[in-house]
Amino acid sequence: MAKVSVGVDIGGTGIKAALVDVKAGELVGERLRVETPPGGRPEDIAEVVRNLIETLDPKGVAKSVGICFPAVVQHGVTLSAANVSKEWINLHADKLFTTVVGREVYLINDADAAGVAEMKFGAGRKESGLAILTTLGTGIGTALFINGELVPNTELGHLEIDGVDYETKAAFSAKERENLDWDQWAERLQRYYSKLEALFTPDLFIVGGGVSKEHEFFLPLLKLKTPIVPAVLKNNAGIIGAARVASKNI
Ligand code: BGC
Repeated sequence: MAKVSVGVDIGGTGIKAALVDVKAGELVGERLRVETPPGGRPEDIAEVVRNLIETLDPKGVAKSVGICFPAVVQHGVTLSAANVSKEWINLHADKLFTTVVGREVYLINDADAAGVAEMKFGAGRKESGLAILTTLGTGIGTALFINGELVPNTELGHLEIDGVDYETKAAFSAKERENLDWDQWAERLQRYYSKLEALFTPDLFIVGGGVSKEHEFFLPLLKLKTPIVPAVLKNNAGIIGAARVASKNI
């Protein structure tokens, strides 16, 4: 039987979970999604996660549970909270989840999890050298890989450009909030990716997040030296990456 782990992807608006075949990098069965509880507070989110895991794996057959979260995560502690409740800052979130869920849980940053999945099973599969995955969603998440090895918690979405935290300008949420058309948004993305390019000289950019489904409307507008490609695992990258990392670490 395939080695199965649970993957959970916590976001500012929704929480998604599924069983994952961690060798194949594929979901097993259905993916569940529920709204993130208003306020995004730790206890409320942990309770939602417990329910999702119980529904997916009532008999506890999955080998491990991986959860990805939109914050800096170091040794199971959430150290930032850009788009969630500030109560997450300095919280031993792995302990909270482990207690509430009743099973050991491995916690990782959401972009790092998506990156792990894309590098192993998706757009970065054959990539050696320096690859940067960016997720364009409520915020901008980044994951940096050197020869396939993750350098965790890079947080390059908060790069300051023109005196502002640039995720507030170039995330997909900014496009929606300010009603930007594709050209207007692409100008901001151009500024952002040019900056990353100047700082890191990467070999590859991978663009994830829900909007990557519509990549043909904005990626061709960008003029960069670095190849820039859409993520291929779409909305499942975080779930698959979290499950895979948990299966290696628990
Ligand atoms: C957070 C990151 C996260 C990204 C995408 C940013 O605001 O600081 O930790 O990866 O959003 O969710």
